[in-house]
Amino acid sequence: MKNILVLSMAIAGMMIAGVAHATHASKGDVESGKGKTAACAACHGADGNGMKETPLNPRLADQVPGYIFTQLKAFKDGRRKDPIMAGMVAALTEQDMADIDAYYSSLPASKAGISEQDEAAALEGEKIYRGGFRELNISACMSCHGPSGAGIPVQYPRLSGQNAAYTEKQLHAFKDGTREHYMMNPISFLLSNDQITQLSLYMQGLK
Ligand code: HEC
Ligand code: HEC
Repeated sequence: MKNILVLSMAIAGMMIAGVAHATHASKGDVESGKGKTAACAACHGADGNGMKETPLNPRLADQVPGYIFTQLKAFKDGRRKDPIMAGMVAALTEQDMADIDAYYSSLPASKAGISEQDEAAALEGEKIYRGGFRELNISACMSCHGPSGAGIPVQYPRLSGQNAAYTEKQLHAFKDGTREHYMMNPISFLLSNDQITQLSLYMQGLK
């Protein structure tokens, strides 16, 4: 009984922490955020939708509120490693990060899509995205990222429309442990390289 009480208190604590986090990130100001992203536009596009020539730079527009904040903080703390982004966040305060988060999550996503020749691979990806991969006990991606890949604030990022090359790089980073996350590491570890490619194409085309 005592253990159950301790456990439920711990869960309640986590929920309160989650709410506090959401409130923090949502205090960001869209207009201030816009003013703080002049340097970001060169790589993430003036409208936050990235640029065709550089698909390894992710799209940020229409990301779920709160997620960009957590990633900027992770780059700054060194929990998420990227030499370019480490330099970009070095001078940002938490308020800057909240403002930037508010700005990018307010921008509309532009149309993405995939080419016809990638459609067959994307259909394979769809099976895992929607149904998981039972042989290896991998849960359906949509159970956390949503049926349309729109994500769920604040924790589960939007995946739909994201550049396949970027998504592919992230899934490999989760797989080999260079990007650490307790939910994504065990899932990605089991995915084959082909499945990673198929999932990434599917998500780029997902609306
Ligand atoms: C020189 C190019 C460059 C500039 C300038 C740049 N970024 Fe990035 N950004 C990247 C790359 C490359 C990645 C992908 C890193 C990786 O592969 O993990 C990235 C990743 C990110 C991510 C993670 C997105 C996700 O879906 O997880 C965020 C958020 C981000 N950048 C925000 C910013 C902000 C805010 C600025 C301006 C203050 C900025 N970036 C400036 C290149 C750039
Ligand atoms: C149990 C919930 C859960 C499931 C199931 C799940 N994810 Fe995730 N995923 C997350 C969380 C949480 C994050 C954010 C990680 C972070 O904060 O760094 C994430 C992040 C990601 C990212 C990084 C996005 C970015 O912008 O950098 C990709 C790509 C991704 N997931 C793909 C998948 C795919 C593909 C599947 C199915 C094979 C999947 N996820 C299943 C919870 C989940």
